[in-house]
Amino acid sequence: MDHRLRCFGTIPKVSFLLLLLSLVFSFANAAFDLATIPFNDAYSPLFGDANVVRSDDGYGVKLLLDRFTGSGFISSGMYQYGFFSAKIKLPSNYTAGICVAFYTSNGDVFEKSHDELDFEFLGNVAGKPWRFQTNLYGNGSTSRGREERYRLWFDPTKEYHRYSILWTAKNVIFYIDEVPIREIIRSEEMRGDYPSKPMSLYATIWDASNWATSDGKYKVNYKYAPFVTEFKDLVLKGCSADPIQEISAAEGCSGQHADLEAQDYAAVTPLRRLAMRRFRQRYMYYSYCYDTLRYPVPLPECDIVPAEKQRFKETGRLRFGGSHRRQSRRRGRTTTPVEDTDDM
Ligand SMILES: *[C@@H]1O[C@H](CO)[C@@H](O)[C@H](O)[C@H]1NC(C)=O
Ligand SMILES: *[C@@H]1O[C@H](CO)[C@@H](O)[C@H](O)[C@H]1NC(C)=O
Repeated sequence: MDHRLRCFGTIPKVSFLLLLLSLVFSFANAAFDLATIPFNDAYSPLFGDANVVRSDDGYGVKLLLDRFTGSGFISSGMYQYGFFSAKIKLPSNYTAGICVAFYTSNGDVFEKSHDELDFEFLGNVAGKPWRFQTNLYGNGSTSRGREERYRLWFDPTKEYHRYSILWTAKNVIFYIDEVPIREIIRSEEMRGDYPSKPMSLYATIWDASNWATSDGKYKVNYKYAPFVTEFKDLVLKGCSADPIQEISAAEGCSGQHADLEAQDYAAVTPLRRLAMRRFRQRYMYYSYCYDTLRYPVPLPECDIVPAEKQRFKETGRLRFGGSHRRQSRRRGRTTTPVEDTDDM
């Protein structure tokens, strides 16, 4: 796709930039103070139970996709605001057509007015990197997708990296390790589009052959099955809430909300903001905020950064904007297809 980005390392000036970049990332990397919980204490299989394989120490779980079924797990409770996090290692080798998702949702409870926060990882043909997208829905805002798509600065199949979603009444932050890659600050104008009802945490692996890779050109090839994605050191910090008794739950949760907002990861420090900007400049290749075909007027929370806007104009990726139909799959999960026909 972007050939300039594939040539890193061959040009000395660019290598120097890369070195700087990794320094910025590592400075931002003072580890969060996290309490991990055993899988059985807070999660249970969602589907494909035989393909949900717990580790011996109880702190990890593998999700398998084979020719019969994918698999998934769900948190036993629902949470109103929280920090949802796991170390994840993605399947390697040929993974075209595969989607691994780590997300919060209440779609099973509120079918027409659900909230959702997503990491979705999309496999690729052998030798080509995984890509991923983040997204947000509130109160059933399915006609207003808020996708951003990115590449990663490492190979996610080689080792575990931590992926986290922070969700408070004020902001949402998506993290990879300790680098914030996206922040959505709640604005009045977002109204119900900002997620506000209790959600569960979900993790799934599934066959998304019809859209995941180059718009469905490359399907899942079960010759390489089973596809295994590994999770460990899960973190669930939030106020456990009953989705139906929202109001009373909100009162009981105020102490926990304050605690959540006081955590290190709840604010983007200047250093982390620098790392976030770097990440977005280098690795983001689609943002709904710059998709003027789809949203002639950017959605209210969009913070238009001139340098980003310029880049998107230059690379002309806005052609992806035309299609944002939603597809459903088993378990009622819906998602937005990635339309990039670029072959990176
Ligand atoms: C990819 O999978 C094929 C078929 O199972 C295998 O022959 C090959 O060694 C694998 N490559 C890597 C790098 O694991
Ligand atoms: C959520 O959507 C419903 C319609 O589906 C609407 O009646 C309600 O006011 C919305 N809530 C908010 C907070 O915007």
